[in-house]
Amino acid sequence: MKVTIDNISIEVEAGTTILNAARMIGGEIVPPAMCYYSKLQGSGGKCRTCLVKVSQGSEKDPRPMPKLVASCRTTVMDGMVVQNITSPEVIEARKGVVEMLLINHPLDCPVCDQAGECHLQDLGYEHGAAKTRYEFDRRTFDKIDIGDKIQLHMTRCILCYRCVFTADQITDHRIHGILNRGDHSEISTYIQKAVDNDFSGNVIDVCPVGALTDKTFRFKNRVWFTKPVEAHRECQTEGCCGKVTLWYKGEDVIRVTGRKDEYGEVEEFICNTCRFDKKKTADWVIEGPRKVSNKSVINSNHYDTLKPLPVVKTNPVLQEANKEQFERETRL
Ligand code: SF4
Ligand code: FES
Repeated sequence: MKVTIDNISIEVEAGTTILNAARMIGGEIVPPAMCYYSKLQGSGGKCRTCLVKVSQGSEKDPRPMPKLVASCRTTVMDGMVVQNITSPEVIEARKGVVEMLLINHPLDCPVCDQAGECHLQDLGYEHGAAKTRYEFDRRTFDKIDIGDKIQLHMTRCILCYRCVFTADQITDHRIHGILNRGDHSEISTYIQKAVDNDFSGNVIDVCPVGALTDKTFRFKNRVWFTKPVEAHRECQTEGCCGKVTLWYKGEDVIRVTGRKDEYGEVEEFICNTCRFDKKKTADWVIEGPRKVSNKSVINSNHYDTLKPLPVVKTNPVLQEANKEQFERETRL
């Protein structure tokens, strides 16, 4: 099936979503995704950050889709034409989505362990407004300790459901979920009981914001001052790949995480023993330094100016729509 995204065409298998087709093309045209996670079945469709415009439904039926669609949940049709950064409407809508996500999410990046790896931080930088229009009280929650290794800071949660899917699909019993509806939705406190599962630590890796953090790493360092190194070990836990990223501060391993790809998704899940109990270099076979993705704010090129597609460069309407992104300056 042929699909064209931002004027770039690609052949994909039937059943591929627009988001995954865009990821196959890569680069600036890939829509951001806060709730979709390719390793978790059923994820996506919650956050709306991946909205795109379908300006031609298919070869057979070229009518445009009447509304912007979630690219993580919409499969391609043969001859479909999609616009992401070449649509001013999409860029405007994405600003609205970011504003919405930031209604309750505190801007506490300076004290948040997720800073430097937070997808909402990136999104806020790229699409956020300087001011909020929200005048009401924000919802806040007390921090909850999920055992001695994980902390839930519900105030930062964007209700993406990734941790729920992780507990459902990666651990052998899920004891938490999202309770209530609308503004009252929250991750259930039963999550406190999910501590004794071998794979519970993966909820930290899948959380796109700083709502679920590693208590063994909390406040130990800013992530951009650490050195990530690839390593593996022969792990005896069934289902654990034993392949990790070790985060060094000087000679000490201060954090262990799964290895994440360019979209911030773990390549394979790891068990709690690897994550929390193996914090010595001697526990691991070191492979070498980890390459940091350009998308990460840990990478000094992250705040570089946008390199627009030729079609954006030549079209004044698209230039206007992308103005704020063009004005990003190299900061580091
Ligand atoms: S705690 Fe994190 S992973 Fe879970 S729903 Fe909230 S934002 Fe998503
Ligand atoms: S990533 Fe598509 S709706 Fe969240």
